[in-house]
Amino acid sequence: MKLWGGRFEGGPSEVFDRFGRSLHFDKELIDVDLRGSIAHAKGLHKIGILSADEMARLTAALEAMRTECRAADFFGNSEEEDVHTVVIRKLKERVGADLADKIHTGRSRNDQVSLDVRLWLRERIDDARRLLVQLLEELLKLAARYPDALIPGYTHTRRAQPVLWPHYILSFFEMFARDHERLLDARRRVNVMPLGSGALAGSGFPIDRQAVAEELGFDSVTRNSMDVSGDRDFLLDFEHAANLIMLHLSRLAEDWILYTGEEYRWMDLGDGVTSGSSMMPQKRNPDSLELIRGKAGRVFGTYMALLVTMKGLPTTYNRDMQEDKEPLFDAVNQLLSSLEMARVVVETAVLKPEVPRRAAEESWAVATDLADALARNGMPFHQAHKVVGRLVLESVRAGKHARDWTAAELCAFDASFKPEMAPLLDPREGLATREIRGGTGPQAVATALKEAFERLQSMRRP
Ligand code: ARG
Repeated sequence: MKLWGGRFEGGPSEVFDRFGRSLHFDKELIDVDLRGSIAHAKGLHKIGILSADEMARLTAALEAMRTECRAADFFGNSEEEDVHTVVIRKLKERVGADLADKIHTGRSRNDQVSLDVRLWLRERIDDARRLLVQLLEELLKLAARYPDALIPGYTHTRRAQPVLWPHYILSFFEMFARDHERLLDARRRVNVMPLGSGALAGSGFPIDRQAVAEELGFDSVTRNSMDVSGDRDFLLDFEHAANLIMLHLSRLAEDWILYTGEEYRWMDLGDGVTSGSSMMPQKRNPDSLELIRGKAGRVFGTYMALLVTMKGLPTTYNRDMQEDKEPLFDAVNQLLSSLEMARVVVETAVLKPEVPRRAAEESWAVATDLADALARNGMPFHQAHKVVGRLVLESVRAGKHARDWTAAELCAFDASFKPEMAPLLDPREGLATREIRGGTGPQAVATALKEAFERLQSMRRP
């Protein structure tokens, strides 16, 4: 069965028929397509195109299909072009062709597919938000489990300055909190009702678009039918949010792949999220994190695919746009499964606080604290930097750690050092000088952690 064909003498070639079909992937939209059609039937009744009885028969059949479509064999070996066509064929079987044929009054597949994808994506965005909040909750619990743990912060993968463990974890909280805002923002632009736009010129029937929008839970209605026909910006807005989540997940994964490895050794992951090697009996590999990192690349590909599909299209609908669905569905699936996987990894994560603390102590991570102390005492910072640089060089030559220096030795090394600066050779001392908002001072971090728990509560609100 086809939704067009009257003006054709011959049917499509077998190759084109196969080539153009989208049912094998757009069947994902079956439930939203049915819901959209129910709302449209009500809209048609309101303007007298369908009698009350006709509307009731149509909506009952469509509702019944919402249940039936959950059965594995619902689509059987349907040969239809797309999901919208299958729905019409099945509707004809249930209510007769004359009534079923009325459902498409004042509607095009162009506004219908926009409606379907918006409904579908709105719900997937809510799924992503829920999973993101669950991940954030686990991250905050992990931060709170080791409130005082000291780790070396790295730049260029080199030990840089000591920071508190919760400060490090909260850096990811900030990234994911921004992602949550981006999801909400994308949702706002997805949640606009396009039906009534027709193919490109607006529906020829005075459908109460506001009522249809309310029926389907949309915030508002679109303002220009030509825009709707060719618009996939709302997918790209979502893609951007999804891609940044994947980017952040991937960077967390990368960190932890390093930190749990033999060269760092300061975190552990549970057996449940690691796997072994078929050949090397000793291996315990962080495959869950590597897969998250790998899937990030895959999701970025879907974003690029959508951008490139859209970039050269002339105004309004072009069939190229059918190619939006597979990348979108793939991005959504990979995003949701990665968020879930990340949460489970975080649940199993164990910090071995003495190892990173020792790493912070045995490096010269306190060098900046010492230079700051000299600067606080009146020395221009660049000069202070140079003095401490010489101290580090001397220590490297002599094989000394920071804590090996006594106050007297420090002052003897350079007269600008004062005995009261010596405690800063202990990395924990320097933390207290960073009680600035956003810094790693213990008070600042405790406050930030408390605020993060509160912010998480507000993210749970619908
Ligand atoms: N299957 C199409 C898509 O996913 C929707 C149908 C519109 N087709 C058309 N020839 N105007 O974009």
